[in-house]
Amino acid sequence: MKICVIGTGYVGLVTGVCMADLGNDVICIDVDEKKINNLNKNILPIYEPGLEELVKRNKTRITFTTGLKDGVKKSDIIFIAVGTPPKDSGEADLSYVKEAAKQIGKAINGYKVIVDKSTVPVGMGDLVESIIEDNSSNRFKFDVVSSPEFLKEGSAIYDFMNPDRVVIGAKNKQAAEKVAQIFKPLNTKVIITDLRSAEMIKYASNSFLATKISFINEIANICEKVGADVETVANGMGLDKRIGRLFLNAGAGFGGSCFPKDVSALVNIARKEDYEPLILNSVMEVNRLQRKHVMNKIKTALGTIEGRQIGILGIAFKANTDDIREAVAVDVIRALLEKGCRIKAYDPVAVPNAKKVLKGVNYVRNSYAAAENAECLVVLTEWNEFKELDMKKIKSVMKKPAIVDGRNLYDPGKMKKLGFDYSGIGRK
Ligand code: UGA
Repeated sequence: MKICVIGTGYVGLVTGVCMADLGNDVICIDVDEKKINNLNKNILPIYEPGLEELVKRNKTRITFTTGLKDGVKKSDIIFIAVGTPPKDSGEADLSYVKEAAKQIGKAINGYKVIVDKSTVPVGMGDLVESIIEDNSSNRFKFDVVSSPEFLKEGSAIYDFMNPDRVVIGAKNKQAAEKVAQIFKPLNTKVIITDLRSAEMIKYASNSFLATKISFINEIANICEKVGADVETVANGMGLDKRIGRLFLNAGAGFGGSCFPKDVSALVNIARKEDYEPLILNSVMEVNRLQRKHVMNKIKTALGTIEGRQIGILGIAFKANTDDIREAVAVDVIRALLEKGCRIKAYDPVAVPNAKKVLKGVNYVRNSYAAAENAECLVVLTEWNEFKELDMKKIKSVMKKPAIVDGRNLYDPGKMKKLGFDYSGIGRK
């Protein structure tokens, strides 16, 4: 198929490249000329395992360009995958989606299916339809389809190629089926719904996963009070098929560009309709407090925080990504800097991004350098390499062997045996 994807952010780039890998001709469009020039030189704007190889492998089927008009004209299916960043109010900023729709309307030159991949409030599909209509002078027929994305950063290519389901919402079933053809090689369950339900599935799914995390974090905090172990509790709960073990890892809370944004956006959507979403409010509040909980643990380990030497392991919001948006580490490091702490921080890939927003941090080359002379070592990202550290060596270079493990990577018993003053989240 001839496809174009507007927006080469996380979702747009991964989706575009993966659709090329499935044998389609894909035009990837972005307004950012520098980004497009770099992509044409194989320089990727994000770190995502496997993406660079996939771009190289499909070179002949992918075009990177700023030419939206041309891309739309040459394609049968047009994906909108631009950002919907949160405004200060928590509402999603829809200006990029609206602009994309406007440009599609101006460029349309025959029947097209327009697929919304960006996470947009319920009802946006209808708005996209009317914007395209208002901007197209020739009144060509088109259909708007919503196909929300469920990719996780760090495993985005695997997630695209092995989805649990593909959701396609549309008014016109034939348009939905045309889009479903793209995903046919994946042999997965395709659910065709109305437009608004598809849009809602995305918000409800992300909000439910965020709820699972805040729920287990609350349970972890109660475990600490009553002397239970949250890992054991999560394992016991997770064996119940109705609950499931995934996304029950207690820790310093969720970050990233999706959960915080999407839960807040759903809160806003509900409030606009005069409904106060009590659970969603609490999900956000528990997540906010969990960062404070980590700060309290550092304080407990040190007595006073002011002026201390702290080592930080992990800055990215999760493992296998260089993304630091809404990362717990950014908030914790800021709070520690405010208290006059000296910080040595290490992350396998997120340091260049961290340098842009966190000044006054000594970024070091590995975990041992971060631990050197530290009075407390704080783990904030679940990178695998942190699980395999030589903890005897870590202890030998630290000034005081205190560890606050915000991702529950280590075994509390083993840490105690090694002589660490160890504190995980909800661990016995
Ligand atoms: C999330 C969803 O998982 C994807 O399905 C969705 O497509 C994506 O948002 C999106 O809307 O684009 P992502 O934000 O990339 O994906 O990352 P997750 O793996 O979901 O992790 C989010 C945060 O939750 C991370 O900070 C992670 O450390 C935290 N987390 C995750 C926990 O604290 N505990 C867990 O058990 C799982």
